[in-house]
Amino acid sequence: MIVCRSKLEIEKLRRVNQLVARILGELRRMAGPGVTTKEIDAAAEALVLAEGAVPAFKGYHGYPATVCASLNEQVVHGIPSGRRLVDGDILSLDMGAKLDGFFGDCAVTVSIGRVSPDATRLLRVTEEALFHGIEAVKPGARVSDIGAAVQRHVEAHGFSVVREFVGHGIGTALHEEPQIANYGPGRRGPRLSEGMVLAIEPMVNLGGAGVKVLGDGWTAVTRDGSLSAHFEHSVVVTAEGCEILTLLDEDAGRARELASAAVENISD
Ligand code: MF3
Ligand code: CO
Repeated sequence: MIVCRSKLEIEKLRRVNQLVARILGELRRMAGPGVTTKEIDAAAEALVLAEGAVPAFKGYHGYPATVCASLNEQVVHGIPSGRRLVDGDILSLDMGAKLDGFFGDCAVTVSIGRVSPDATRLLRVTEEALFHGIEAVKPGARVSDIGAAVQRHVEAHGFSVVREFVGHGIGTALHEEPQIANYGPGRRGPRLSEGMVLAIEPMVNLGGAGVKVLGDGWTAVTRDGSLSAHFEHSVVVTAEGCEILTLLDEDAGRARELASAAVENISD
């Protein structure tokens, strides 16, 4: 069953998702050459706790940290470590938190210093693909319309979509129904209705789609060693389409541009 949230529940989800987005903003400002991903994780945990919230990932099936910090060929679920960021890295930061019984979840991939033109293109196309998915969200649309829109955009640019991990409903649990694949034919699966809350999170590889999980049981990496990017927003279905709960006011202009580009050129 996919839950439709009340006004009050949506207000709570907005609060926690805004909190997660704000902290992620802090972390991305912190992420530069010389900083370790463990330092970023420690800052994240302190910021979450200072807000009276609780990290959502720490302890989830034994996950050991507040953020997932996935570097370069790491796709998702990279465990923060003593590795120092260096110029040319790309770093995916994914964070969830719980506040007042409700969960927030958001992810971005950031460039460290100057990165290759390929890396720049990968980050741009992955974020655009997320907005193509978001543009597909409206009452009456089907869950698989999201993945179809994501996949179309990614493959039009010669990149590939990861199949093994999916987006999800989010609310009083971090992972609720439905699962949201980032590929596949549209017009399949449940219809979306006002009040449903979804975390949409495309993972895109520069090379092939294949991934494997390392011996630590968490870190997913590309099989071919190519770079990978990950962007995630949590959204609530509204009468007109959706509201991005993890969008900060300061990023609204950029989001509007990404959204209108997604509408205008649905295959590009
Ligand atoms: N954003 C990812 C997700 O929603 C991160 C989960 S990491 C875990 O699935 F540690 F919580 F598993
Ligand atoms: Co998620």
